[in-house]
Amino acid sequence: MKVLVTDPIADAGLDVLREAGHEVETGYELEGDDLLEAVSDANGLIVRSGTEVTAAVLEAAEDLVIVGRAGIGVDNIDIDAAKDHGVIVANAPEGNVRAAAEHTVAMTFATARSIPQAHIRLQNGEWAKSDYLGTELNGKTLGVVGLGRVGQEVAKKLDSLGMDVVAYDPYISEERAERIGAELVEFEPCLEAADFVTVHTPLTPETEGLISEDELDLLGDGYLVNCARGGVVDEDALAAKVEDGTLAGAAIDVFAEEPLAADSPLLEHDEIIVTPHLGASTEAAQENVATSTAAQVNAALVGEPVANA
Ligand code: NAD
Ligand code: MLT
Repeated sequence: MKVLVTDPIADAGLDVLREAGHEVETGYELEGDDLLEAVSDANGLIVRSGTEVTAAVLEAAEDLVIVGRAGIGVDNIDIDAAKDHGVIVANAPEGNVRAAAEHTVAMTFATARSIPQAHIRLQNGEWAKSDYLGTELNGKTLGVVGLGRVGQEVAKKLDSLGMDVVAYDPYISEERAERIGAELVEFEPCLEAADFVTVHTPLTPETEGLISEDELDLLGDGYLVNCARGGVVDEDALAAKVEDGTLAGAAIDVFAEEPLAADSPLLEHDEIIVTPHLGASTEAAQENVATSTAAQVNAALVGEPVANA
């Protein structure tokens, strides 16, 4: 069977496929007609967040059995079109949760203490000690929007560092939130109470633009962290709130359009720190998601049950 891999995954995952006897083709720069041609005789397709698996891709992939997403978010895959074509979609929901949570904690500290800004100035020869008076996380309130796997891990970590944690998630129980030290509240009270808001929802029609001008007003002079998905936070509204001095700062790992355009308003303000979708980029996480996705592709190709379909 041929498995096409169109975003880089760890070698360990490619080995799992080859050991099962599959022909593994990698094409990390494939776009447009080249992608359609490469997928036309593929039985399995493995992607991360870079490849848009559109209806056209699924239409072209006549022999496709499964799309494996080596990570969590499946917003780059047209799930309805996959269903129409009888193609299984499976993700790797566990393997990068710790990496994403650690990156979120790192970004929270980085914005609270202006670490990247001070680093750049020192690299440029400036000893800007008196320009940076940071904010302690201890004793502050963290608002978690989306208390799923990553949100819960972040809540536990920042609770243990002395933050009070409130959370908004319409789909989980109060008891579940309490077990990890978070108080479940409604959306607006969550934003109003928080000094730091961290976003951990998927990108869906319901969450697109969830945090825009009005919601940022409720956060006031706090900090916003988004290591979940671009599009959940309105980027223009965010840049405007930093520009007018309302919001103290933001730390953003994910963007509505990736790669982020050089003329994005998010790049115009020192108080907005950015990373290029690095949440899952640790060796351990990449090995985890690559091997579990490859195992699911192998299972699908021999007609066995696929765990995370
Ligand atoms: P999850 O499915 O375990 O949790 C998502 C939570 O969001 C669920 O509890 C769900 O009930 C909640 N939710 C859904 N709609 C909501 C809404 N309208 N308001 C509030 N809550 C809502 O997912 P996860 O594994 O925790 O991943 C969270 C996000 O992080 C996803 O978008 C995922 O793609 C992203 N992610 C990013 C990186 C990265 O590299 N930056 C790495 C891993 C995960
Ligand atoms: C995810 O949803 O798992 C993330 O986007 C991680 C990634 O694949 O980069």
